[in-house]
Amino acid sequence: MSQHPLNNHKTAVGRWAGLGPYYAMFPTDFAFQVIEEFSRPGDAVFDPFAGRASSVYAASMLEREAVGIEINPVGWLYGRVKLNPSSKNRVVKRLKEIGDIADSQQHSRLEGMHEFFHCCYAPKVLNFLLYARDLLKWRESNVDATLMALILVNLHGKKEGSLSNQMRQGKAMSPDYSIRWWKDNNSEPPQLDPVDFLSKKIDWRYAKGTPKGQPSSVILGDSTKVISKLGANIKNGKQRPFNLMFTSPPYREITDYHYDQWLRLWMLGGTAWAHRTGKLWQGRFSSKIAYKELLLSVFRGCANVLTDNAILYVRTDARSFTYETTFSILRQIFPRKSVEIIQRPFLKRTQTALFGDSAKKPGEVDLILRPNQSNPSLPSFT
Ligand SMILES: C[S@@+](CC[C@H](N)C(=O)[O-])C[C@H]1O[C@@H](n2cnc3c(N)ncnc32)[C@H](O)[C@@H]1O
Repeated sequence: MSQHPLNNHKTAVGRWAGLGPYYAMFPTDFAFQVIEEFSRPGDAVFDPFAGRASSVYAASMLEREAVGIEINPVGWLYGRVKLNPSSKNRVVKRLKEIGDIADSQQHSRLEGMHEFFHCCYAPKVLNFLLYARDLLKWRESNVDATLMALILVNLHGKKEGSLSNQMRQGKAMSPDYSIRWWKDNNSEPPQLDPVDFLSKKIDWRYAKGTPKGQPSSVILGDSTKVISKLGANIKNGKQRPFNLMFTSPPYREITDYHYDQWLRLWMLGGTAWAHRTGKLWQGRFSSKIAYKELLLSVFRGCANVLTDNAILYVRTDARSFTYETTFSILRQIFPRKSVEIIQRPFLKRTQTALFGDSAKKPGEVDLILRPNQSNPSLPSFT
């Protein structure tokens, strides 16, 4: 996929586009390409499953207005911050303030923490994280949201490049697994100064400035409930109907966005243990019935917030249940649109292929629904 000229590390737009590590996310160039090809400047774009808000961000940077909805606070925070980061001076000042408070206190708070945290972070780092966790008002304040998002990006990952002992960056492993792995590999947490470390990361992120896009937003919430409010805003003229819906629903039984982000969710005030929340739309979507209900409810809601001529661009999993359900629900709700189907097989050799696993990986499918002016009753398949 070719790189979009705006989206590279020499521009502010490119530096902020990558915020932050999430799972099953759009490649940022893909988001820019779809927005450019399927909408025009001045259009309104909608993503009801926004994740880290790449669609909303690309739209905003390409002179469209966009709204996203995301149920996971980690994805939501990345999206909110990249659309409107606070000024660097204020973020650095706040970082130092938290660092000074943490340094002025005894480390007695660490004593009650589970072994996982002691194996994952050096005492000075853990102490800083505990104070940042308590003090940053990331829902209310833009400075605090920006600092918290930058902490989340660096909360875990490669040992030399993050605040933690060796861990994956996109997904936090369970405490038991992590402790075992660190012990087996004699891996100790990195001894670093969290304020110095984060200051350097902040320098890099702000080195080209901050992105300036069209006013756009991501709402933290459940699309099955929030879309009707958007519909009400459209009726009373507070919101324009959308010309493009560009989204990727969760893929059934592939990942649990909450469980896999448990450490970042802990940082945002959640439980200090990897656990499944058990709440609706916060699991692996194991129930086929509930999965269908989610798509039906959200896409029905979308029909009320889109213009008659809107285009829908939906990326989904190629595995049969997810794909067939998504396809048939979209056809049911938008019967007058034509459908183009683009297969996106995974091209890269997977890691397991090196160990003799030659199973074909299913890849993804893009469904593009357009107004079918020539023959509204017949779908056209390509
Ligand atoms: C495939 S991911 C989207 C990734 C996104 N395209 C990106 O580039 O980051 C699907 C997202 O839908 C979110 N989601 C699932 N159920 C939801 C709901 N009821 N309301 C809002 N978001 C939901 C998940 O938390 C997840 O972030």
